[in-house]
Amino acid sequence: MFHWLEKNPFFFAVGVFVTIAFAGLIEIVPNFAEASRPVIGTTPYSTLELAGRNVYIKNSCNACHSQLIRPFKSETDRYGHYSLSGEYAFDRPFLWGSKRTGPDLHRVGNYRTTDWHENHMKDPAAVVPGSIMPKYTWMYTNLADIDTAFAEQLTVNQFFAVPYNKPVPMKDGSTTVVKMGGSVAEANALALAEAKEIVKDMKDQDVKDAVASGKIPEIVALIAYMNSLK
Ligand code: HEC
Repeated sequence: MFHWLEKNPFFFAVGVFVTIAFAGLIEIVPNFAEASRPVIGTTPYSTLELAGRNVYIKNSCNACHSQLIRPFKSETDRYGHYSLSGEYAFDRPFLWGSKRTGPDLHRVGNYRTTDWHENHMKDPAAVVPGSIMPKYTWMYTNLADIDTAFAEQLTVNQFFAVPYNKPVPMKDGSTTVVKMGGSVAEANALALAEAKEIVKDMKDQDVKDAVASGKIPEIVALIAYMNSLK
């Protein structure tokens, strides 16, 4: 049946190419799909964390900081396990960055704490002598935009089926549920509850007073985001 093919080098070559390309796709495509699935232990961002992520983007932290640990010993020794694509499943947009004036921040939540960030963001050079990172003093008075973060959750949730209010598998075999409010008021209440937990480890009295009175300064949202990077 295919004798004619063997006598036509051109069509034979095309046939070989198509056969091998198809086999290649069968092997490669499922791997892409698998790699972009959330790694076990990757949870969606809470409303407060998302608001903090927006503070990070707004202040162009990604101009000096990457969020991508490469698989080299010099990097894994310093930052921890190299980054996996599935860990960015809930990042829209991703913040890999292409320049490191400062260190990578993809797992900063593992080795920096709330009070460390509180002091560092106010005056980096006071914590790390010689630091060229700018001070971000306005974050202690500017209020975080929770409403926009909630709007993002609504749209993202709708388009990408992000598993809010659903059990997400964790590394130790347990599950975690990240709650998303059903209304703007509920989203603000959830964010405030999370903010109250964070300010317990903070010292700035003005920030503490603001949260006690129901307001969330940007620094609290940013720290929630920093702590979520693990
Ligand atoms: C002009 C570049 C620059 C910008 C912009 C910048 N940083 Fe930095 N950052 C640095 C440098 C340099 C260091 C290392 C010295 C230090 O720790 O202060 C650093 C360190 C850090 C660290 C400590 C990381 C570690 O492993 O010790 C954190 C956290 C951090 N930056 C967060 C931020 C955030 C959040 C923003 C945005 C609000 C930001 N940075 C903006 C340059 C920058």
